[in-house]
Amino acid sequence: MQRRTFIKKSSLTALGISLLGAINWNGKGIFADNALKVNGQRIEGRILELAKFGMDDSGHGYRVAFTKGDIEGRAWFKELMKKAGLEVSVDAGGNIIGKRKGKNQSLKPIAFGSHIDMVPDGGNYDGTLGSISALEVIEVLNENKIVTEHPLEVIIFANEEGGTIGSKALTGLLSAEGLKKVSQSGLTMAEGIKAVGGDPDNIQSCIRKKGDLHTFLELHIEQGGILENENLQIGVVEGIVGMMDWDVTIEGFSNHAGSTPMNMRKDALLAASRLVIAVNEIITSVPGKQVGTVGKIAALPGASNVIPGKVTMSLEIRDLAIEKVEMLFGEVQKRAEAIAADSKTNITFQPQFTIKPALATKPLLEKINASAKNLGFTTKFMQSGAIHDSQNMSLIAPMAMIFVPSVGGISHSPKEFTKTVDMTNGANVLFQTILDVDKG
Ligand code: GLV
Ligand code: MN
Ligand code: MN
Repeated sequence: MQRRTFIKKSSLTALGISLLGAINWNGKGIFADNALKVNGQRIEGRILELAKFGMDDSGHGYRVAFTKGDIEGRAWFKELMKKAGLEVSVDAGGNIIGKRKGKNQSLKPIAFGSHIDMVPDGGNYDGTLGSISALEVIEVLNENKIVTEHPLEVIIFANEEGGTIGSKALTGLLSAEGLKKVSQSGLTMAEGIKAVGGDPDNIQSCIRKKGDLHTFLELHIEQGGILENENLQIGVVEGIVGMMDWDVTIEGFSNHAGSTPMNMRKDALLAASRLVIAVNEIITSVPGKQVGTVGKIAALPGASNVIPGKVTMSLEIRDLAIEKVEMLFGEVQKRAEAIAADSKTNITFQPQFTIKPALATKPLLEKINASAKNLGFTTKFMQSGAIHDSQNMSLIAPMAMIFVPSVGGISHSPKEFTKTVDMTNGANVLFQTILDVDKG
């Protein structure tokens, strides 16, 4: 944690700096401390309040997109947005939009936000920090009676965890095929979007074109351990990995586990197991930071005395270069063909969503870095291994992200945690960056 110590009057005088309480020392350098600040306690309180939506009796969070917890959490969030004076609507993609007028309504809006849905048994900070901090920016502007030059838009994206669905819709990337895919909630994307107040039949109506927004900014927890390991306060995100994912089906033959000799089986789970290992071998066979995961698997019919006749599982591969993802998937397919032939099974891959890698806009990165430095924070330019709505948004607007440390580098887990001081630092950087962007 950063320790701030006020410079003694005598040393200020020696430096020729007037003593207005506006100058501070963090042990590394002098920085301006007269900037308006967010209310960290309010952020923490709201994070904990939001965590209750979708929480089970044992305190674990299941606010999966389109489920009851998500719908109720969104209603709570919309109410707060309205209380903060935002003009709130839900677009056809199910995204919550909160608008605040600027002095010059002919300027393009500065947009910022994140998501409030979570993975099953997920953490309380992924997405929620950026969402609640976006609202906090509005609260502080209201409290200080500041009207920005540009209109502002808080955007809370629908179903980020299911493939950045809301931001895909908003940027014109959600196809009719995509709307038919089944989400983690069990509803199709179209049904889920409808359940949260969107209009999948008119999905085109929410599309924003390139140039419709001045900027898009997202504050997020790092979800990795780099900032914590290096004892740094703010990550300035230069690039976000791309991802492709597939539903994999392995078809064998269900038969009696006692009377079917080992050499006469078509065991789908055995073939799936070999494929899981093959994925790991292929991903680790080349240098680089690529990752590949099978995170979900189901064997049917699912009885101890029946040879599994069918397995469904997921596969996702990520890298900063989508060509590398495609190349690695090609290798997985080759191995799958060999495994299928050997095990007398049939293996098919059904593509789900492709999320392209994205680079942030350089001048925005510089503004984030300068805002963080002015507030006295240590920074690092880094990449994101997690996917984010920001990468779709980069197709239509200059985009950049701000990271704050995740304790232990843990995320997508109930153990996910970010300290209040770090959340507050991140929200202050977001706030100052927005003010800076508004000037330029
Ligand atoms: C979203 O958090 C992802 O990276 O899967
Ligand atoms: Mn997230
Ligand atoms: Mn996530």
